[in-house]
Parts: sequence; structure tokens; C-alpha cells
Amino acid sequence: MNKLRLGVIGLGNMGSEHCRLILSNRAKDMQLCCVADLREERRAWARATLPENVQVYESGHALIEAGACDAVIIAVPHYIHPDLTIHALRHGLHVLCEKPVAVYTQQVKPVLEAARESGKTFALMFNQRTNCVYRKMKQILDSGELGPMKRMSWTITDWYRSQLYYDSGSWRATWAGEGGGVLLNQCPHQLDLLQWLCGMPVRISAFAQEGKWHDIEVEDDVTAYLEFEGGATGVFIASTGDLPGTNRLEIACDQGKLVCENGKLLMWKLPMPESSGYRQGADAYPHPDIQPIEVETDGENPQHIGVTNAFVSHILHGTPLVAEGEEGVNALMISNAMHLSAWLERPVSLPIDEDLFARLLMARRLTSRKKDTQDITFSTDHSATGKAL
Ligand SMILES: NC(=O)c1ccc[n+]([C@@H]2O[C@H](COP(=O)([O-])OP(=O)(O)OC[C@H]3O[C@@H](n4cnc5c(N)ncnc54)[C@H](O)[C@@H]3O)[C@@H](O)[C@H]2O)c1
Repeated sequence: MNKLRLGVIGLGNMGSEHCRLILSNRAKDMQLCCVADLREERRAWARATLPENVQVYESGHALIEAGACDAVIIAVPHYIHPDLTIHALRHGLHVLCEKPVAVYTQQVKPVLEAARESGKTFALMFNQRTNCVYRKMKQILDSGELGPMKRMSWTITDWYRSQLYYDSGSWRATWAGEGGGVLLNQCPHQLDLLQWLCGMPVRISAFAQEGKWHDIEVEDDVTAYLEFEGGATGVFIASTGDLPGTNRLEIACDQGKLVCENGKLLMWKLPMPESSGYRQGADAYPHPDIQPIEVETDGENPQHIGVTNAFVSHILHGTPLVAEGEEGVNALMISNAMHLSAWLERPVSLPIDEDLFARLLMARRLTSRKKDTQDITFSTDHSATGKAL
């Protein structure tokens, strides 16, 4: 097989961007051969914009059943991810699914079962993992050169969204259509990176304010306190209401710290570990004279097309994926835990009580606000920054 034949399901903001990237000269060994959307307006866009030989289908199911491709990228609203993923895997297709893998963790088990049974590749679009600064952070933390983590804090408030954004989709920012707000739409990337870099927390206490900055029913402002095995703690702050916002990740370890902000990674490294050096030392107020160094990276940040290229290469040549499908449950578990803690107004242990979460979410879905909105697709090229659309 020279080129992998790809289908894109969902031609909204993200799906149409995937098409553009697959057709660009940054894509390797792949061919866009079919697309699908439920909306006639998006199918008309596809017929007018994409090459003539790209088949256009009226639904994800129709595209999958047509057998016209080897693999699909799924870019539809969150609740539908598991159903389409399972359908595609059972029809012998490889799947690259957009984040989040699902809306609640209970939905993930059958997806992973279908992936195992099919023997096909199941991967997730965690494009922020391709960013050189996060890859470098992982390399440093995994090497152990800074010792065990003591504390992490991430302020991720540069996901600003206006009311127009929320009003642009009938599914957006509703419990029934989307299943959550900033935690489920924007932050799956950071929650995935959090568990990738720091490991899974074991307990979470969270506050999630719903409709604080926008006329929406889901959360747009979150503050969470995380506890990790071994005693490390963390703070995670997310909002779509701050302008200008902040994206600052700090990870403090026994022998130094890393700070990632404004696309730069700074490292402070102590000459010896704090626990075995300074804590028992003769100096009551040690102030080691260390300056931060800006850590060099390879400068590569290929984002979405990087994930898609890795997916294709994995299928054709057996090279590693950026994110395996089964890893998706971790970010979702953290996100569900934050919601659950906020709803119950108490700390929750991980893994959470998945039945309870599903019941409480269902209660919200049943009373969810109906949105009588015209769906709008924004055609903005964010590929240079990797910012979600
Ligand atoms: N990785 C990223 O950076 C990133 C950025 C934006 C969105 N996303 C993800 O992409 C997904 C879609 O988000 P969006 O902003 O593009 O939404 P959108 O509303 O703009 O587009 C979704 C499209 O899916 C279509 N659709 C729904 N069900 C379908 C079905 N069964 N078959 C075919 N088409 C169907 C809709 O008609 C719509 O056109 C979400 O999971 C979102 O989280 C990821």
C-alpha cells in the first residue's frame, strides 16, 4: 500500500481543517478519498472545495459502510465519538478520533473492546503532545534529573471564547449536546498533557462555575486541587472568560523546576536535591544562587498534521503513534472527576464512581437547554499556532 486512503467524518470547524491539512504538502503517504457530514451546507462546501474524486456521503455511517477508505478521522460532536469509532472499527477501518474520546468514562470500555477485537489502529487527536516544549518537559521529567515532582500548577485561561462562539452550534455548551464546557471541549488537551507529564492524580477537589462569563449552562470557569500518589499536589485553573488569558505550566520537583509559558521552557536546577541537601543542611535560610536556563528544544510543533502523519505511518510502517486510543480515558477520567467533585461539593478519589457520574450527567442531559441555533462553521486557519478552533 503506497498511500493510506483516508475519510473525514464531520466537516465543521475541525473536520474541514483536517481536509485542508491532508491535502497540503505537509501530509505524508495519505490520500483524502471521502468525507461525510449530516449537513447539506457542509457537503456543498466539500463538493465545491475538495478535489473532484473525493466522495461525499450524507453521514458517518454511510461513509463507513461504503468501504471506500482504509481509515477515518472522526471530527463530530463528542457524544457521537464512541458510536462512530466502534462502527468504523467493526467495518475494518483504522480510526483517528478527535478529543475527547467520549463524554463519560463508561462509554470508553466498549470502544477499547472493539479496537482490541478489530486488530485495527485506534488513535486520538492529542495534537498538543507534538509541541516541542511539552515533549521536552516529558523527556526531562522522565529522565529523573529533577527528582520526584512536588507540585504542579497550570493556569490555562487562554482559551477565550465569545458568546458568538457558543451560539454558533446547536450542540455547543449544552449538557445534552456537548456534555460539558471548558473541561470537555478545550481542556482535554491540557488534562491529557497533565497525566502524560505528571501521572494520574488520585484525588481531586474542584469548583466549576457554570455560565459564569457566558450565557451557557455548562462550566466556563474551573479551579481544581489535585493530589498525587507520593504526596505531590497540583492546581489546575481553566476558563474561557479571561482576556488576555494565561497559559503557564509550572512543575516543581525535588531538584529544580520547569516553567513553560509563552512557548518557552525555563529550567531551574539545584546542585543537589532539596530533600537530602538543603532540608538537613547547616543554613537556616538557604538561597542557592541559580539562574533559570532556557531549555533548547527541536523547535518542531506540527500539531494536527503531525498526529495524522504519525497515524498513517503507524499503519503503513509500524512506527509509534502520538497518542494511543486507550490513553484517552485518562484525560476523561480527570475531567469527569472535576465535574463530579464540583457537583457533589466534595473531594473525589480516582477512579471515580462511574455509575454515579453517568447518572448525574444524565439528570443534566434531561433538563438541558434546547438551542434553536443555526450551526455556523468558522473557516480560520489555526495551524500555525495549534490553537483549537
Ligand atoms: N484537536 C483540536 O484542536 C480540535 C479543535 C476543534 C474541535 N475539535 C474536536 O472536533 C470535534 C468537532 O468539533 P467542531 O468544532 O469541528 O464541531 P462543528 O460543530 O463545527 O462540526 C461538527 C460537524 O459534524 C457533523 N456531524 C455530526 N454528526 C455527524 C455524523 N453522524 N456524520 C457525519 N457528520 C456529522 C455536523 O453536521 C458538523 O458539521 C469535537 O470533538 C471537538 O472537540 C478538536
